[in-house]
Parts: sequence; structure tokens; C-alpha cells
Amino acid sequence: MDDIAFKAMIVEETADKHFVRRIGERRVRDLPEGQVLIQVRYSSLNYKDALSASGNKGVTRKYPHTPGIDAAGVVVDSSEPACQPGDQVLVTGFDLGMNTSGGYAEYIRVPAAWVVPLPANLSLRESMIYGTAGFTAALSCCRLLESGVAPDQGPVLVTGATGGVGSIAVAILAKAGFAVAAVTTKPGEAPYLHQIGAQEIIAAADADDQSGRPMLKPRWAGVVDTVGGNILATAIKTTRYGGTVTCCGNVTSGELHTSIYPFILNGVSLLGIDSVNCPTPLRLRVWEKLADAWKLEHLETITTELPNLEALDERIGLLLQGKSRGRAIVKISD
Ligand SMILES: NC(=O)c1ccc[n+]([C@@H]2O[C@H](COP(=O)([O-])OP(=O)(O)OC[C@H]3O[C@@H](n4cnc5c(N)ncnc54)[C@H](OP(=O)(O)O)[C@@H]3O)[C@@H](O)[C@H]2O)c1
Repeated sequence: MDDIAFKAMIVEETADKHFVRRIGERRVRDLPEGQVLIQVRYSSLNYKDALSASGNKGVTRKYPHTPGIDAAGVVVDSSEPACQPGDQVLVTGFDLGMNTSGGYAEYIRVPAAWVVPLPANLSLRESMIYGTAGFTAALSCCRLLESGVAPDQGPVLVTGATGGVGSIAVAILAKAGFAVAAVTTKPGEAPYLHQIGAQEIIAAADADDQSGRPMLKPRWAGVVDTVGGNILATAIKTTRYGGTVTCCGNVTSGELHTSIYPFILNGVSLLGIDSVNCPTPLRLRVWEKLADAWKLEHLETITTELPNLEALDERIGLLLQGKSRGRAIVKISD
């Protein structure tokens, strides 16, 4: 196995501290230690991949590096009895694609604890349409529901709604019976957002309160926030009594300036969402939900399929400029 050569994206730092991406050849022997060697069929593009692929050292400390925080494929070698050659599996999160060689390659080698058996009723391709973004959306929705938020309590809000996490959160919440309001910087995408289940479209500027008031008219029974910053602060101020806000992303800012009043006067809860180190029992439960009760009719509507690793370059640029929509998956091998 060690001599197998394979195709991978390689991101390198040049002498003048620039980062360049190329598609090159690597060998299995150069992959990190791990119990399970997987031939990758599909990967996907998440916000974090775009950062890793462009030299963000908050995500990836050392280059050269192969990004890709998601991978789905077939086990080709394993020292772990629970994983057998031929098994269809997926890996998202943990350190994959961050400081461990990632899914933008025909092979990955990972610890067995990172490997999730492909749920019944989901193909490898579909599992990457969800990927980390879909997993995070579903985890956010699980936490909202478990905190007691229900469709009869009023509408829910999703921010960054045309993004990967946002699109899937909109679609899951609509499927679960909620009236969904979608915050977007792209009002022109209203038809897309309606198609995947949003009832109301809110321009990002209208969800970005500048009044300085600690609380505003309560509207939302729950919120799935993907952007952070003042849009998250505004969502907290407009959440109804006893409502829950989940937060997973920092697209606009990693800071949150708010007051304690929505929490102590309205009993609002703020829940942090982490997909990376999500414990295995919860991880498996969320994947089961995605494959079954929350399996979306709109998977193709939200998906752009890139035919090969070479096609990732342009899409990474679009995502970093906030110009992409929904989910991009990339075909890695047949
Ligand atoms: N905590 C976790 O485990 C976890 C897991 C996955 C992702 N994340 C984080 O979640 C966030 C979303 O990830 P993603 O993969 O969905 O990214 P994405 O596909 O790039 O979506 C981000 C969306 O944010 C919105 N946006 C961009 N710039 C904005 C601005 N200036 N103001 C307001 N909204 C803006 C855009 O939606 P509109 O065009 O509709 O406005 C964009 O599509 C990222 O910060 C990512 O790192 C966290």
C-alpha cells in the first residue's frame, strides 16, 4: 500500500510568505499514522476548507498541506476490527484537513475513532452534500429542539441563510414544521430560499441592529446563527421569552457584544455548537437524523458538484468572497 501514488491538492507557502495551491502527486507512505486507510470518493467545500486552502494559520499551522475537512469513501486497509476493507465510511471534523492531511486527496489515513459508518439510506455522495456544514446545521437543530423549541411557539430565524450551514438549517427546520425566516446578504436569492423552505426573507442590514437598545420586539422562538457578530447580537435581542439561540460561526466577526438583559429578563439561552469534537454517540445520532427523519428533498437544489480537484480553486475564491450558494461537493475518484 505504501507505494501507492495518488492525486491531491497541495497548498504550499512560498519564500515570500504567499500561499499557492496545486494539484500534485503524493504517496500513501507520506500520510499520517492511523488505523484506517480510506480511498476517498467525494469531499466537500466548507468555509474552513477555504481558509486552510488559502494559508490561514488559525486553521492550519504547517504547510505544505492537503486541506479537506470532509471525506467519504471506501476502507482499503484497516487494523481496527470494526472497520473492514470494502466498508463505506465518512469522516468529518476532528483534525481532518486542519493539521492532518485531508479529503482533497484520493487517500486519507485516520484514527479509527474518527470513522463513521455510512448510514443506511445515504450514499457517499449524499453524505458529502451534508458534510460538516450539514452535520453542523443538524446538530444546531437538534440542540434547538432538545431545548424545547417547537413549531407552535413561533417562527425561527436562520442567519447566513444561503451558505452551506444556513441552507441546510433552513431546509431541516422547514421540514420539521417550523416557519423559517432567512437572513441573507443576497436578496436576489429569495427564490432559492423560498424553494428550500424559507417563508420570510430578511435583508442582512435589517437583522443588524444599530440602535444600542438591549432588547427589541421579540420575534423568534429559536435562532440558528452561522455568522456571529452584531447579527448574532441582534438575533439574541429579538428572541422571544424562553427561546434558544445556537451559534456556530464567525463569518462576520468572532466577537459578540451584547448585554445580559435578554438572558436574565427573557430567559433566552445561547448554545454553542461544535461539530469538530462532537462525541461519537451524538455524532452517530445526528447522522441518523440526516439520513432518515431529516433527509432533504432539496439536496440537489443546494448542490454544485465539482468534477475534480482542479475545479476547487475557483469555487474556493467565490466562497471567500461570499459569492457561493449552498453546498459544493467534489468528486475525487470513481
Ligand atoms: N462550530 C462548528 O463546528 C462549525 C461547523 C461548520 C461551520 N462553522 C462555521 O459556520 C460558518 C458558516 O459556514 P459555511 O460552511 O456555511 O460557510 P458559507 O457556505 O461560506 O456560508 C456563510 C454565509 O454567511 C453569509 N455571509 C457572508 N458574509 C456575510 C456578511 N458580511 N454579513 C452577513 N452574512 C454574511 C453568507 O450568506 P448570505 O449570502 O445568505 O448572507 C454566506 O453564504 C463559518 O464561520 C464556519 O466556520 C462552524
